[in-house]
Amino acid sequence: MNEKTALFTIFGGTGDLAKRKLYPSLFRLYKKGNLGDHFAVIGTARREWSDDYYREIVRETIADLNPSEEEATAFASHFYYQSHNVNDTEHYDTLKELSDKLNEKYQLQGNRIYYLAMAPQFFGTIVNHLKSQNILTEDGFDRLIIEKPFGTDYESAHQLNNEIRAVFPEDDIFRIDHYLGKEMIQNISAIRFANNIFESQWNNRYIDNVQITFAESLGVEDRGGYYENSGALKDMVQNHILQVLALLAMEPPVTFSEKEIRSEKVKALKAIRLYTEEEALKNFVRGQYGPGSLDDASFAGYRQEANVAEDSQTETFVAGKFYIDNFRWSGVPFYIRTGKRLTEKGTRINIVFKQVPINVFKDDVEECTQKNDLPPNVLTIYIQPTEGFSMTLNGKEIGQGFTTAPVKLDFRHSAEVTGNSPEAYEKLLLDSLNGDGTNFSHWDEVAQSWRIIDIIRHAWDKTTVDFPNYAAGSMGPKAAFELLEADGFQWTWEPDVWYRERGQLD
Ligand code: BG6
Repeated sequence: MNEKTALFTIFGGTGDLAKRKLYPSLFRLYKKGNLGDHFAVIGTARREWSDDYYREIVRETIADLNPSEEEATAFASHFYYQSHNVNDTEHYDTLKELSDKLNEKYQLQGNRIYYLAMAPQFFGTIVNHLKSQNILTEDGFDRLIIEKPFGTDYESAHQLNNEIRAVFPEDDIFRIDHYLGKEMIQNISAIRFANNIFESQWNNRYIDNVQITFAESLGVEDRGGYYENSGALKDMVQNHILQVLALLAMEPPVTFSEKEIRSEKVKALKAIRLYTEEEALKNFVRGQYGPGSLDDASFAGYRQEANVAEDSQTETFVAGKFYIDNFRWSGVPFYIRTGKRLTEKGTRINIVFKQVPINVFKDDVEECTQKNDLPPNVLTIYIQPTEGFSMTLNGKEIGQGFTTAPVKLDFRHSAEVTGNSPEAYEKLLLDSLNGDGTNFSHWDEVAQSWRIIDIIRHAWDKTTVDFPNYAAGSMGPKAAFELLEADGFQWTWEPDVWYRERGQLD
């Protein structure tokens, strides 16, 4: 039977994440029969809410999923609200009482999942109380789901990890990286390990460079306060981008199991070259958006956003080059870039293959070898907003004579219209119910990612940049393009060019 049994206790139950992601995802699981009669949810936060009010909110969050009246009522009836101050020991006693009561009522077999959807400074306090006030059960499972950021550097992450590990074993800790729940990120392994055409070429003999772009068109929105202390490097590179890089670079696991995949990912991360601070400054560039306009819409600069300092040195864009010093990847640059207020929202990976040794279609022998301007074959993996992949090849142009022309094999669909493609959080919640940590970040991965990121951050903290250095709506600062040009490459994906050609972007 597919139906799972558990009590979810959500710390931060009135927050944005709970409302936007968790409740709708739980509902989808309910609708699919993964959750049935034997589940309950306790939402906690400081506000005073009644169960009825809470259930009303839960119903609002699932309205877009078009539940019937009975379905919505039945689903929401599993939700209970508890006003909670995370520092108040007595509140945990009340929480324990309610948990035990719901355990009886819904026959939950002592299975408990604690979801910490709140600021990380409270994580330690919460887990300590879960233990000291005996909320953890003896008979079922106790699992902890934590949202990012996991620390703000290696030291703080290490300390946080020690606090949590004093209560929960590693196997019961599920550190969310929501990118790992995305359909096409999970598809990277299928593309690599189920297709000999790619896997046989997946190395430094055939691949020239790898480009990972996580572009966002939105600005910092209402998260200025958080973002000022984070910046793009910690917000996107330390977690999402390095996880994707590990999936692209790892060796094939012996079996497709959590333990084997993890071990290969950790090895890949450990092979990423640790730069000196001087090298970090050379290989990583940062940007911050200034005011700009695109296609008739005008945007404010980052420094004009709410809760952002007028002279902020926070980066809203990062581009950089990683090297993976192992047998497979030696010498292949992995370029990454991410930023806010870029031309388009687009998360994609371009695998740029080496060119054929000579271009035999040139007129004379000298040109054949010296002017090999055939475009390279590129495998593109589209993560979002469209999902799929494409491969560019060179074919013959139809007609007399012999001219080559690029041909694109394209398999793509819009992620939004793929009703079957479950939302990342839905997959991750089900994984945690199954006790499967494959698509979560293990401590060893988090630790190594911070070691890599800390060097760049320290180097940057010692220098200032003349921000803003890219206009909202563009694809980032000039330095991000020069980074590749210096190596004789260029970004494969240039959505800004399309707008410039039509005069819709300066
Ligand atoms: C989050 C970052 O982890 O990922 C946000 O904190 C970012 O700043 C978001 O906007 C992007 O996620 P997605 O799924 O919309 O690509």
